[in-house]
Amino acid sequence: MTRSFAAARLSAVAAAALISAAMAVTDARAEGNLTIYCSVQEEWCQLMVNEFQKATGITVAMTRKSSGETFAQVKAEAANPKGDIWWGGTGDPHLQAAEEGLTEAYESSMLKDLNDWAVSQHKTGGGKTVGIYMGALGFGYSADVLKEKGVEGPKCWADLTKTDYKGEVQIANPNSSGTAYTFLATMVQILGEEDAFAYLKKLNGNVNQYTKSGAAPAQAASRGETLIGITFQHDLVTPAVTSDVPMVVVSPCEGTGFEVGSMSIIKGGPNPDNAKKWYDWALTPEAQALGAQANSFQVPSNKSAPIPEAAPKLSEIKLINYDFAKYGSSEERKRLLSRWDKEIGAAQ
Ligand code: F6P
Repeated sequence: MTRSFAAARLSAVAAAALISAAMAVTDARAEGNLTIYCSVQEEWCQLMVNEFQKATGITVAMTRKSSGETFAQVKAEAANPKGDIWWGGTGDPHLQAAEEGLTEAYESSMLKDLNDWAVSQHKTGGGKTVGIYMGALGFGYSADVLKEKGVEGPKCWADLTKTDYKGEVQIANPNSSGTAYTFLATMVQILGEEDAFAYLKKLNGNVNQYTKSGAAPAQAASRGETLIGITFQHDLVTPAVTSDVPMVVVSPCEGTGFEVGSMSIIKGGPNPDNAKKWYDWALTPEAQALGAQANSFQVPSNKSAPIPEAAPKLSEIKLINYDFAKYGSSEERKRLLSRWDKEIGAAQ
């Protein structure tokens, strides 16, 4: 082959590649757009978005925020919705959004493939939300940091108020974080409301920081910035799997609450058809298997999705009979948060 022929062939190949790249872009545009509000860990949000784009050619814009913050955003934008789908985050604020008419009912053909607890969330929310994963609340610490501090490891919720742990407990703020709201509602269900607030006041004396995001205290505990982090147990498993830190994950002796992580279509969003495509896809076993790849260890809602090996075993945890209809209702969530603001938040 002469030099000039080879050069001409190369430029023809390059031109063809450019044309097919341009066609791919046009195709992607032809499939349209989707704006997703994501309330799980960033790594999982990103992986879901990338895989959905690859599978459908739809261009996705994603914003990650905690559950309570996303609820507030969806509510603030209700007159002119900018988001199409809210994926992930604890179920209570999704139920509140359903009740307040911020989200849209949808009967996916995938519902028949889901565990009862996920379908039950769909029923409680009048068809406007659905369960995508489940996880139990707990707390944890690094065995190395515990040794350094020379204290006993806590086993029960009651232990966390001991003077041994002054300035050593971290949890999120229940206004921004669904995890911390689940904790608040759990203590009310275990102790009764008056005793729960007395407990939270005592605990406040040991809390070093109320973070914005629910999972942050698990990361902080693994870095030794706090001894104890109160989070979902799967969030304590993440640093145990991704680092050398010997994390101890505790299922409190009194029993514990749990979340049904949820998904809802935002009412009046700009791309309703693509929102339904995401919804159906996100309920498939393939999409639900992506969590473990992103080091998120919740139990998936599709009965055929693999349960990650590292996921806390829910059958071995003493779970309370969490009342989602009550604690996900607009009135109860607003009332408990405002009481928390007055009696705990204001005391910081
Ligand atoms: O992705 C981790 C996770 O704990 C989810 O299981 C949960 O739904 C969400 O984060 C809650 O986050 P936040 O407490 O920040 O609202």
